[in-house]
Amino acid sequence: KNILIINGPNLNLLGTREPEIYGDVSFGTFLHNLESKIQDYARVTYYQSNSEGGIIDFIQENSSEADGLVINAGAYTHTSVAIRDALANLKIPKVEVHISNVHRRESFRHHSYLSPVCDGIIIGMGLDGYEYAVDFVLSVDPE
Ligand code: DQA
Repeated sequence: KNILIINGPNLNLLGTREPEIYGDVSFGTFLHNLESKIQDYARVTYYQSNSEGGIIDFIQENSSEADGLVINAGAYTHTSVAIRDALANLKIPKVEVHISNVHRRESFRHHSYLSPVCDGIIIGMGLDGYEYAVDFVLSVDPE
């Protein structure tokens, strides 16, 4: 199976960005470990972009060959109708991930445009949340 993992703006800085909130492990290190755990039955196509259009282009161009999608859209979670529309069009299982517990933070982080079009949401479990999300999308039987 082929799983898309998408990280939005500023998530390229994981490991050094506000480590008290987001931890001190880089996404590259985390992804490498995850890929080696699942390599016998799944592979990851990873994309990170600081631009909304880049994320939408990636979804449009890669979803037809994907079996599941895991997205942390960063701050675009709270602003982007366009990313929501791109996700709404997909039939594959989709999970929204947030590293931090956004509900314990500023109120502008409490609303997500993406949650209503995702199958599940994982919030506040650190980078491990991406692994739980991948396990979930892999467990869903294709339609
Ligand atoms: C985040 C939470 C967002 O509010 C924030 O803008 C991020 C990261 C998280 O993973 O906790 O960039 O999506």
